[in-house]
Amino acid sequence: MSDTLAPTAVDRTAHLYEKVRHVIPEVEWATYADDAEAILRLKQQRNAVVLAHNYQTPEIFHCVSDVVGDSLALAREAQQVDADVIVLAGVHFMAETAKLLNPTKTVLIPDPLAGCSLAESITAADVCSLRAAHPGVPVVTYVNTSADVKAESDICCTSGNAVKVIESLGVDRVIMIPDEFLAQNIARQTGVEVITWPGRCEVHERFTAQDIERIRADHPETVVLAHPECPPEVVAAADLAGSTAQMLDFVVQRRPRQVTLITECSMSDNIAAQHPEIDFVRPCNLCPHMKRNSLAKIRHSLESMTHEVTIDPAVADRARAAVDRMLSV
Ligand code: 13P
Ligand code: SF4
Repeated sequence: MSDTLAPTAVDRTAHLYEKVRHVIPEVEWATYADDAEAILRLKQQRNAVVLAHNYQTPEIFHCVSDVVGDSLALAREAQQVDADVIVLAGVHFMAETAKLLNPTKTVLIPDPLAGCSLAESITAADVCSLRAAHPGVPVVTYVNTSADVKAESDICCTSGNAVKVIESLGVDRVIMIPDEFLAQNIARQTGVEVITWPGRCEVHERFTAQDIERIRADHPETVVLAHPECPPEVVAAADLAGSTAQMLDFVVQRRPRQVTLITECSMSDNIAAQHPEIDFVRPCNLCPHMKRNSLAKIRHSLESMTHEVTIDPAVADRARAAVDRMLSV
């Protein structure tokens, strides 16, 4: 920078770029700097915080977020937020969960179309039909669902606590909705009989056991971690299965020389930003819903105070009860 020129947004955000320089080329940062700086300013003006899921891209995850984590961590943290405004950089069910747990706050989602194939696979009426078909069997509902569906459920779970939640019920049969692969993977771990629903994550269902075979053939030393939304044969072929936070903890604590994360693409990028010494094999699939978010949309969300997430009060209390039961396990 010359002495005579005023500092640019790129100069003023050099400390932010430092956090992502291993995964974002310097030329690309020029396209983010202005929005990143504006978001930091707007967060102060609005008394807002940004909560971001582990699948957000590195410039969101590392540079403008106050809290990052898996679905479980985001739910727990949303409950603690003191700020007036929560911007949820994730998908719609996550913003709804934040609103359920902290109803007096304004919860914004940068793109209201950020959905989820699991949440879209089931309705409240479907849950009522399942209950009628299996009277007395408790309904355990993955958080990747609408508030309407949660309201018809006994208890929620995430991929990080599903085993604990199911074991806490002390029953031999549960209805576990809507992810059939998660349900099958958890059934294997718990020995509890699980009645499933044919919902799938469109990102994780695409991985195959052959993908892992090929990766192991090309990278014999690699440690393979898979998300439990993957098909059971993929989980069986992996070294370990866990939520996105459990994958991150494993990698950060064990520091394998090389690792393969069978999950959404940004997971590897976000860990690599802080651990350039770890080599990531990247057979990732992109989540089109998570990728609807961007710095520009987060900025717009804070400027215009859109898109506000609201929940029908008739539904909210019952949905909150199912999430609260999960959090108390
Ligand atoms: P977790 O972050 O809870 O593992 O969930 C992954 C996911 O697909 C969220 O949409
Ligand atoms: Fe839904 Fe799968 Fe995307 Fe997560 S990764 S938001 S489960 S479609």
